[in-house]
Order: sequence, then structure tokens, then C-alpha cells
Amino acid sequence: MMPLLGVTGMTKRFPGVVALDSVDFEVRAGEVHVLVGENGAGKSTLVKVLAGSFPPDAGTVSLDGAECSIRSPSHARAVGISVVFQELSLVPQMSVAENLFLGREETTSGLLRRRTMARRAREALESVGASSIPPAILVRDLSPAARYLVEFAKATMARFTVLLLDEPTASLTSHEAERLFTVIDRFRAEGKGIVYITHRLEELARVGDRVTVFRDGRRVATLPVRGAGQEVLIKYMTGREVQEVFPPLRGTPGDAALRARGMTTASGLRNVDLDLHAGEILGVGGLIGCGKSELGRALFGLEKVTAGTVELFGQPVPGAALRPDALIQRGVMYFPADRRGEGLVLNRPVIENITLASLPSFERAGLLQKSAEWKTGLRLIDRVRLRPPQPGARTAVLSGGNQQKVMLMKGLVRAVRIYLFDEPTQGIDIGAKAEIYQFLHRLAADGAAVLFITSDLLELLNMCHRMIIFYRGRVSAALAHGEATEERLLRHYFGEIQEAIRERAG
Ligand SMILES: Nc1ncnc2c1ncn2[C@@H]1O[C@H](COP(=O)(O)OP(=O)(O)OP(=O)(O)O)[C@@H](O)[C@H]1O
Ligand SMILES: [Mg+2]
Repeated sequence: MMPLLGVTGMTKRFPGVVALDSVDFEVRAGEVHVLVGENGAGKSTLVKVLAGSFPPDAGTVSLDGAECSIRSPSHARAVGISVVFQELSLVPQMSVAENLFLGREETTSGLLRRRTMARRAREALESVGASSIPPAILVRDLSPAARYLVEFAKATMARFTVLLLDEPTASLTSHEAERLFTVIDRFRAEGKGIVYITHRLEELARVGDRVTVFRDGRRVATLPVRGAGQEVLIKYMTGREVQEVFPPLRGTPGDAALRARGMTTASGLRNVDLDLHAGEILGVGGLIGCGKSELGRALFGLEKVTAGTVELFGQPVPGAALRPDALIQRGVMYFPADRRGEGLVLNRPVIENITLASLPSFERAGLLQKSAEWKTGLRLIDRVRLRPPQPGARTAVLSGGNQQKVMLMKGLVRAVRIYLFDEPTQGIDIGAKAEIYQFLHRLAADGAAVLFITSDLLELLNMCHRMIIFYRGRVSAALAHGEATEERLLRHYFGEIQEAIRERAG
């Protein structure tokens, strides 16, 4: 069968890396072709070449069998290629409707046009299941998920035959993702060809027909989704077996490092008791909105605590000292769930992002000690295994997972005894995840206390000495490693036990 889109011998080099190395790839009509691979494997680069963002160094593209060299983004659109990039491109200060029509030539002037635009905007949003977003609202007032849907509506408003989606579900909840899948199903039924990039392997069975794996700029496999178990894919992506991904849990936790009793917050935590020990990884699970993120924020003084007590290393922390700066002084560091490099200065080099938050420690007599800064930076780059290890690279050109590692390094410049991590592996590939797992294990083995908030059941089951599950702002269960099974965890996620406890308590 003639593919809708074919790519042959595609090669793209950047200074120091071959992002695409003679890649062959195709998309058929009525197919969702999933593209997976570790951070930096070249997935987004393929998308960008097809989108006309930059030309390849070698290789050809064909559409419906006819060779076609894509000269520019507008040329790509003209030949029927629509793209939603990994980095969003909306203008925050403009309305949804204005953004939808930005760069399109809808040029009749006056009132009628405004009204037509509003109507077409509403239709476009509705067609992607986002009718609840008002066209007149400013983009800056939207959640990341809503922004994504606007971007998606924009890409699918125009006529297209091939749709390229680069990590579409990275900022969506599972419910929002499911709505997106329904829209994708419709495009597939209409005979469009869809390229779908993701790090969430569990999505493949739901959304994909075939899957291609990239590693280090090369295509290493293409296979039907039905024949591709996660273990097989992980092996293609990393060249490693799954058992090697999760390090064996070792060590016995020591004294209590952090203790909370009856912690209640304005943000909805109710009467939370928690003990986190030195040398321990304590997992925190639960559904989205259950309060697990609020816990991390509250323990770092970012939520208003209305009742309860907190102790650090056996010392009570007075309410007034429950502030980030005071907590950092006492060895506590919090790593927020952060998507798409928010919180980084993207147009500055990696090294500056690492040390920015702690510049005073690199100053002597008011002068920045460059060599000390670089020494620390290089040590951390080695510690989180940033690859390629380029401290001078502009942060914007790093892959998503590498940006996540830079986030991580920002908080590691100081001496830390209690780590509060919220979803530290979100949006990164399995190989980078494995490295972060090892890293957390090393922290615990060195005697630090690690709070590990995660939505990933495998992480709770395999990474944590103990785990607590939240349901509607309360702790619904506390389990030890070994006691927990996937099914038990899920039962607690949905609050069964919680209800029982509450009934018993009257
Ligand atoms: N504009 C650029 N300048 C320099 N190097 C780049 C640029 N864009 C990408 N690279 C490099 O090319 C390689 C491939 O990057 P790419 O963004 O395609 O990876 P990816 O598979 O999309 O990763 P991720 O899953 O993290 O998004 C990486 O080593 C990256 O650092
Ligand atoms: Mg990418």
C-alpha cells in the first residue's frame, strides 16, 4: 500500500550530535503511527523537518508517492501536513480566537468577520472536544491542558492529510487524554495519517496501530502495536531489560527526619499524619486532585497550614518557620512537578540555570567565581547523567527529559537532607527515568529522606520503602513495600478503605 507520507534516508546533524541518522519512516492513510524513544532520540527533530522548521542534511520526503521537499512551515501546511509541537506556540496576551486565526489569511474586514471568526473558533474548539473554552478568553488565563487543546484545534482547523502530534498528552489528565483519543479515532476513520509521539507506553494499545522506536537518531524497529509489549519496547529503546530499570530496594530507614501530625491546610489536606525517615523513600500516591501535590507544597511552606504540627529531626517547627527560605536553611528542598521546562530560563546556558538559584554561594567579594560554578555544574551534570553533557548549551535546545534533569540539578546545589519530589519523572523517557530512580536510591542510601510523590503505580510498587495513599485530602492507606499490590493500591485510590475508616470513626 502506498503510504500517505514517506521519509527515506533522513539525516539531520546539529553541532556535536546526529539527531537523525538516515531514517526511513512512513505513515499510511487511516493509521496512527506511534513514535517512541528516549529523550534526545530524534523524535521531535523528525517532526520539525516534516513541519518545514528546518531542512534536513540529507533524505527525501514523499507525499502520496510524489517527492516533495518541504521548504517552510507554510509550505508544509499547504501540502497538508499539520503539526502540534512539543513546545506550545500560542501568544498568551491574545484571545483564543485571535490565536486560532493568527497567521491565517481570513481577510474580510469589519464586524461580520469578527462574528464569523468567533463562530469558526467555537466550531474548531467543539470539534476537538473543547467547547467549554470561551473563544474570547485570553490564552494566558488558560490551564496548560486548555492551552494544548487550543493548539490542537488550531492545527486541525485547516485541511490536512497528515497530523503530527509531539507528546500531546504530556499536560493532560487521563480524562482529557481520553477525549483527545476520541478525536484522533475520528481522524483515523476519515483516513488521515497520524504520527503520535509519546513517552507513555500505556497509551499505545489505546491509540496506536503501529509503533516505531528511535534510538540515538536511528530507527531500530517498526512493529504492530498488538505485537509490542512494553517490555519489548523498553528493550528497543534502552537496550536494557526491564528488571534493570528499577534498582533493587535496599537499606533500612533510620530516625524520623520529618514528622507531621494532624496537618490541615486551606488547600484541602485534612488531618494528615506522616513520618519520613532518614534513608527512606516514602511514596505518595493517589488520583489527580487527591491532595498528594498539596502535601509536597504544604511541607515546603507553600500552602497555608491551618492546623497540626510539623517536626524536623525531632525539633518542632513553629508555624512562622514553615517557609521555603527557612526550610532550605534546615536542609529541606522541594522539586515541583514541572512540565515543559517552566521555571527554566530557556535562552540561557544549562550551567546558568543550575546555579541561578544559588548564585551567592559562588560569589567571593561580589565576584562570580566562574570556576567554582563550573565545577559544581559539572559534578551535578555527571550526577544526573545529563547527555550529551554540555553545560554551555542553550537550555532551549535540550530535549524534554534533559530539561527535567536541569530542573533537578537546580535544587541539588546545596546540601539537602530532606527531598520532596513531586512527579520527578513526568514526561521523560524510560531510560532517563531509570537514571532518576538510581539517583533517588543513592540519595536514600547516603542517608537522605526522600518523599516521592507520583502518579505511576509501578514507581510506588518498586521504588518505595513505604507508601501512603491520598483520597480527598486524607491519607486513605499506609503500606509497606511488599504489602502493596497494584490492585490494593487502586482500591485505596478510589477511597474504599477511607470510607470504611471514617464510618468506624463515626
Ligand atoms: N535546535 C537544536 N540545536 C542543537 N541541537 C539540537 C536542536 N534540536 C535538537 N537538538 C539535539 O538533537 C537531538 C535530538 O533531539 P530531539 O528533540 O529530536 O529529541 P526527542 O526524541 O524529541 O527527545 P524528547 O523525548 O526529550 O523530546 C538531541 O541530542 C538534542 O539535544
Ligand atoms: Mg521531543
